Amino acid sequence: MTHEPAGTPLLSIADFESAAEKRIAPAVWDRIQGGAADEVTLRWNQEAWRDIRLRPRVLVDVSAIDARVKLLGQELPFPILLAPTGAQGLIRPNGDLEAAAGAAAAQATYMISSSASVRVEEIARHSGGPVWFQLYVQKDRAFTKDLVQRAEESGCRVLCVTVDSACHGTRDREQRLKSQLQARELPNFCGPDYLDPTLTWKDIDWLLSFARTPIVLKGILDAEDAEASVKAGVAGIIVSNHGGRNLDTAPSTADALPFIVDRIGGRMPVIVDGGIRRGTDILKAIALGAAAVQIGRPYLYGLSVAGADGVSQVVRLLKKELELAMMLCGRASVAAIDRSVLW
Ligand code: FNR
Repeated sequence: MTHEPAGTPLLSIADFESAAEKRIAPAVWDRIQGGAADEVTLRWNQEAWRDIRLRPRVLVDVSAIDARVKLLGQELPFPILLAPTGAQGLIRPNGDLEAAAGAAAAQATYMISSSASVRVEEIARHSGGPVWFQLYVQKDRAFTKDLVQRAEESGCRVLCVTVDSACHGTRDREQRLKSQLQARELPNFCGPDYLDPTLTWKDIDWLLSFARTPIVLKGILDAEDAEASVKAGVAGIIVSNHGGRNLDTAPSTADALPFIVDRIGGRMPVIVDGGIRRGTDILKAIALGAAAVQIGRPYLYGLSVAGADGVSQVVRLLKKELELAMMLCGRASVAAIDRSVLW
């Protein structure tokens, strides 16, 4: 069990959240915690998972729980990945390196963000565990190609292209105290203006023409875009609304997920992120057809509370909660989780 210095045990992600808020400067807190505009989608993300009812089944032998999944050529001990987030260096000076190491220690795959404060090679080398690379396609395509190749050479196993960010959302909460944020380096970008609104499916074709690792598209919410992803020939998609940070009043990912899963019909793995705060949320995501989930803010809370160790604690906590939820729903393996787990 984890203890705050005062002796308060941190038993849930919500406990880590409150402990983190006490440690993080207000401007940084607003940067990580905030969403777009009125934060409606941000709230929906958590509420939608919570509002799905589970259907427990009894008298099933659940003495041995197996949470393993196969995903894009990897075998994961449990279906939880760390989503790419660019604020780790604001939370702690070596935040990116610590978070990657904490993920590895808990046997979770860590997605290196393009907007990390440290070069992709250094994070990959330091991590000691499986890493993927998240790409914001830069306007300078030669730089972008080089960046992708650097990521591949440094051992990133999957290239995750974020496609939901033609621009930043209207982030009022983040803007208010933004002047107090310390300037930080963004060594994986070729300039301060790192989003390209000209990005289209042609650029995905271009990336596919030279990428040596599987490509997944992050930020799909619409079934038509999911279909187009299959047609484009990418290896998978991530259902995400960028943690409620881009388009406010876009649906929660829990609401979008089943439509996308039904449209994909098993042709590629579907990962989901946004508002996952409990093991039961993970169980529900798997039940709706996700191959795995990603967590964003929860591990940032862990990072701020206890560095790499805090990140590991958060991952282990969610893994444990998932296992307990599986037991209480009478499902001993991930393969046994389907929509009949839902009420
Ligand atoms: C993000 N997210 C994000 N996504 C991405 O593709 N590239 C990035 O650099 C970032 N940066 C980033 C910073 C911060 C502070 C947050 C909170 C989020 C989105 C992230 O990958 C993920 O989609 C969400 O965080 C998932 O929602 P939860 O788990 O935070 O609710």
